[in-house]
Amino acid sequence: MERTLVVVKPDAMQRGLAGEIISRLERRGLRIVAMKMLHMDDAMAKKHYAVHEGKSFFEGLIKYITSSPIIAAVLEGPKAVEAARNTMGKTAPTEATPGTIRGDLALEIGYNLVHGSDSQETAKNEIPLFFTPEEIFTYERDIDQWIIES
Ligand code: RTP
Ligand code: MG
Repeated sequence: MERTLVVVKPDAMQRGLAGEIISRLERRGLRIVAMKMLHMDDAMAKKHYAVHEGKSFFEGLIKYITSSPIIAAVLEGPKAVEAARNTMGKTAPTEATPGTIRGDLALEIGYNLVHGSDSQETAKNEIPLFFTPEEIFTYERDIDQWIIES
């Protein structure tokens, strides 16, 4: 089953939106298979956002993501990467459709509340930065039979 990394970013933590964000993804049908709270340090943030190194917003992005504890989670489901990103909405919240997390709850690209892996390959690289294999659970929920076609 496909997996994706989700991070509830510092602005969401500060605004008390962690439950709302996780709830929207969970209600979509995605299964939580790992979750933890942590405070990313500089080195971890630079690894996580290595692809953006050298861009104009990089330093600000590192400062932002390390500014407060965050919640990281691994969510699982059919097309989990696409499903999570569609529920989050476009990166720039003013372009995000109402009904999405960013479209309903955010305004600025630098405070867009949530991170989701942008491809299966990215997810496979990002997840081990946050979780050991032992911290990721393999299980089924009774309700999965009504969410996931076999
Ligand atoms: P994320 O990686 O955080 O889930 O966001 P994303 O895929 O939707 O967007 P991405 O292009 O990966 O950018 C990572 C984060 O950098 C900040 N950003 N600022 N000022 C800007 O032009 C700009 N562009 C990107 C955002 O916080 C974005 O989520
Ligand atoms: Mg990204």
